[in-house]
Amino acid sequence: MSIWNCTKLITIMISTIALVACNEAPENTEELRLPISINEVMASLINHSADPIWIAAWNNPTNDRDWRELEHLARQLQVGGSLLSIPGTGPADEAWTQRNEWQEYSEQLSAAAARAVNAARSQDIELISRAGDEIVDICESCHIDFKPDLPTMNIFGELSPTAER
Ligand code: HEC
Repeated sequence: MSIWNCTKLITIMISTIALVACNEAPENTEELRLPISINEVMASLINHSADPIWIAAWNNPTNDRDWRELEHLARQLQVGGSLLSIPGTGPADEAWTQRNEWQEYSEQLSAAAARAVNAARSQDIELISRAGDEIVDICESCHIDFKPDLPTMNIFGELSPTAER
């Protein structure tokens, strides 16, 4: 084989490897999957971490330890919101997460929870209450869009006193 042919062959081989490598990246992203269903994320992480934020708006934390606990829960909700963007094992998870609106709700929830984290850090009841109202709006909007045939959970009863509705 001449040097010229050999160079060509190597070029083809490198291109092939590059193509294979490029093809793998999107597949790996698609395979990103939660080990549980979105419904389980909702019950065990989202609902669990959001409740105390609403409750804190009128049953105010009284010491550093309680505020710290609230900050941790708000962090869990922030991460939980982002996790909603990834499908899990539920039958409808894939269809939901492919929708733009779903991705937007997921981002909004995470961002509102991040504001609750800051509110808890500065031990500010007014800000906790405002973040709580934003959060409840996002839960409700997404449930209305994506969960119409299931009964809406009774979160209105837990709205903070500053809520408009
Ligand atoms: C991105 C959309 C979205 C957001 C945001 C969202 N949910 Fe959900 N939630 C759903 C869907 C869809 C289901 C139904 C899942 C199923 O049936 O598999 C659900 C189910 C639930 C459930 C399970 C019980 C039931 O009624 O079916 C609870 C509890 C819940 N959500 C609470 C919340 C709370 C609290 C928030 C806000 C802090 C929230 N969700 C935010 C989409 C969302």
